[in-house]
Amino acid sequence: MRRKLVAGNWKMHGSLAENRALLAALVPATRGLDRVDVAVCVPFPYLQQAQELLSGTHMLWGAQDASRHAKGAFTGEVSAQMIAEFGARYVIVGHSERRSYHGESDALVAAKCQAVLNAGLTPIVCLGERLEERERGETEAVVARQLEAVMDSLGVAALSGCVLAYEPVWAIGTGRTATPDQAQEVHAYLRRRVAERDGAVAARLTLLYGGSVKGSNAQALFSMPDIDGGLIGGASLVSEEFIAICRAAQA
Ligand code: 13P
Repeated sequence: MRRKLVAGNWKMHGSLAENRALLAALVPATRGLDRVDVAVCVPFPYLQQAQELLSGTHMLWGAQDASRHAKGAFTGEVSAQMIAEFGARYVIVGHSERRSYHGESDALVAAKCQAVLNAGLTPIVCLGERLEERERGETEAVVARQLEAVMDSLGVAALSGCVLAYEPVWAIGTGRTATPDQAQEVHAYLRRRVAERDGAVAARLTLLYGGSVKGSNAQALFSMPDIDGGLIGGASLVSEEFIAICRAAQA
């Protein structure tokens, strides 16, 4: 009943020439996948190129962050409205790399989520525990805190315009994927927490898994009942891998 979504997070990778080659491979190879939305979240300078190369195709594009502010004296920041001008659909907010390297708090992530919604775009809100938190048995408490910061500040109804991505920090870029059962357990928990406030919003909510997803493990993850697709880092830069992941979501 929920449509699958596979979104590439290019992080700080790419060049005009590399992007052109990658997108030229992805567009025809993912065109027939009618049960999957396929997107790439690119560095800001490449939004225009993504628009130029993907407009009129089935593929969607987005950015990896946005300011909490709509405009103003915020040197170096990029507003969600600016991103929207380039035809983007998605903005990743609260990625663990921004939470840890840029000190983004739960409150700031919620504010960014609101800014993205205000611009008519879909935030992909990332949450997930660090290894030491998992080892201390705090996984549910951590993801609940991160989720509730958004629901408390925006209201549960706002989640009907959002995508959530569960990305355990220990699985990001490490080659150590959560097992399908580990991921499913957290996804089901997150959906239950949303359902406590609004069952219909919870049932429709797209919940992505991210962290070392590859062509070889995607299908096992995506076949779990509460995993609605993936947020893909390293493997989204390799056309054959990303195509295999998109095909796994169609299966
Ligand atoms: P990897 O797929 O490289 O582990 O990265 C996951 C991620 O952080 C996507 O946002």
